Amino acid sequence: METAAVELSEVGLCYPGKPPVQVLDGLSLSVQKRSFVSLIGPSGCGKSTLLRIVAGILPATSGTVRVEGGTALDAQRAHRFGFVFQDAALLPWRSVQENVELLGELVGLDPAVRRAQAAALLALVDLKGREHLRPSQLSGGMRQRVAIARALVINPSILLMDEPFSAVDEFQRESLNKELLRIWSEQQNSVLFVTHNIEEAVFLSDYVCVMGPHGGEIVEYLPVELDRPRPEEVRVSPEFLALRRHLREILVR
Ligand SMILES: Nc1ncnc2c1ncn2[C@@H]1O[C@H](COP(=O)(O)OP(=O)(O)OP(=O)(O)O)[C@@H](O)[C@H]1O
Ligand SMILES: [Mg+2]
Repeated sequence: METAAVELSEVGLCYPGKPPVQVLDGLSLSVQKRSFVSLIGPSGCGKSTLLRIVAGILPATSGTVRVEGGTALDAQRAHRFGFVFQDAALLPWRSVQENVELLGELVGLDPAVRRAQAAALLALVDLKGREHLRPSQLSGGMRQRVAIARALVINPSILLMDEPFSAVDEFQRESLNKELLRIWSEQQNSVLFVTHNIEEAVFLSDYVCVMGPHGGEIVEYLPVELDRPRPEEVRVSPEFLALRRHLREILVR
């Protein structure tokens, strides 16, 4: 079988302190290459912590973490990750184009390659012609699209997204969802996507992983077997609504 993009086995994380906080405990999860997996669960259950562990930013205190067959740190050093945060976190003094080029600069991409790559990605997220604007001149949804382009500039094989659309309204969220699926189908990355929004999780994912309130385990690993590409109307199909209802029942009980 092909090596998984991400394979977590019995992962635990304890934040040091008095008293120490055990956030994750014996958590196992795998993300197959080129699949789209969402992580949903109550606030404070450890979703952001989990993404930081996968990204090699935070070492797990127990269990094993494998990313494309190696350690998380190896993957981080090989620039395998793109990270999109809840707020776009753009640098206000840089233009849109310069923000997208940032990671390329940090990893030492050739300037001409970097520039061409950033321009192509800005076209991909529908921001052609806005390259010279500053973040303050963009809407919230546009800023998130810049953040997505920025994460993709080093051509990461794994995209980690932590509630990237929570700050935009419902309509923008739906259009960003569509945009993201289009980009993902072109780029063929593996995605681990954290959200609080059940509908978004179902619309985007191959699998929705539901975390329990104490981060100890994935309480449900729900396959979403809806055909792709997924048209907007799929959101009102009986299959979609049944999945949504099922997740709601698990999450609100
Ligand atoms: N640096 C830290 N030191 C100590 N405890 C922390 C630290 N970071 C997070 N925590 C605790 O770990 C738990 C999980 O936090 P985390 O941010 O991973 O949750 P989350 O599932 O992403 O929540 P949300 O949905 O609200 O973003 C929380 O109880 C939080 O208080
Ligand atoms: Mg979080």
